[in-house]
Amino acid sequence: MAQIFSFNFGLRKPAMPTYASDEEVKRAIKNELARRLSDDDLEIPPLPHVALRVLELARKPNSSIVEITELIETDPQITAKILKMANSPVYRGLHDVTNIDTAVVMLGLWAVADLIFAFSVQGKVFRSALFGEEMDRQWEHAVGCAYISMALAKGLKLPGEDVYVGGLLHDIGKPIMLNAVENVFRRNPQKVDPAVIEGPFLDELLEEYHGPFGGLVARRWELPEPLIHPIERHHYPDLGGDDRLTTIVAVADLFCHRFGIGCDANEELNVADHPWVHALGISHDDVVKVFASLEKDVFEYVEFFKQSA
Ligand SMILES: [Fe+2]
Ligand SMILES: [Fe+2]
Repeated sequence: MAQIFSFNFGLRKPAMPTYASDEEVKRAIKNELARRLSDDDLEIPPLPHVALRVLELARKPNSSIVEITELIETDPQITAKILKMANSPVYRGLHDVTNIDTAVVMLGLWAVADLIFAFSVQGKVFRSALFGEEMDRQWEHAVGCAYISMALAKGLKLPGEDVYVGGLLHDIGKPIMLNAVENVFRRNPQKVDPAVIEGPFLDELLEEYHGPFGGLVARRWELPEPLIHPIERHHYPDLGGDDRLTTIVAVADLFCHRFGIGCDANEELNVADHPWVHALGISHDDVVKVFASLEKDVFEYVEFFKQSA
């Protein structure tokens, strides 16, 4: 299918080349992404203010419940979602949770902070009119990896700081790339057929570039250095020396791939005996125990986020 393709990734000076074939369109998209990456020249949505504030509070000694609840209450949508989560089967206690103070007491201050971060990023970054299905998968994968990362750190009594956000953002390069590609289509509604790039081409593109794109996003957002590593290196956690956060996120990512959380399941993947698991210094039996308890919970957790989108 020949396409006339006007190509613009949020370019300051729109270019209007035309392409004779689908292959040319694909090549042009790939070249443009590579160029934008090497020139550090891409429109990136800002990190939502609420998410930024959560990261600040997490790093501030003596952050208080009052500061967190005040922050939540600046956003009625997030408030409603937190209350819904507190009353969901994932966390449900004996009584209905009707206010944020009780939710904080029940879920814990930092679990609530993690949820605020997740909900604010969900609404602002993981959105796509054109690649909605793919974006939903990315979101499921992000939330699943965040949950497993946190549960792994807790269950194995490993340091838990930044673990949830690290898991949530590890593949952040993918939604950013989807948004970039979507800009092309949004500006050329009559001329371009999205089916040209959806499928294996888009999958390969995301796989090839998401690490460096994620690094670009993380640096533009000025994330704390420890959070940049799991984004850039989650497929090579052994390259970073003794970087436990990256290794935990990498193992959580393996779990997601083993069980098909926001991706195709790979039943051949032996997570418990994987070298990255050994690198965490935990036994095969302990990992099997943690994973057995996780298997059901993580799907419930992901399902909640899907329904609250
Ligand atoms: Fe990845
Ligand atoms: Fe991943």
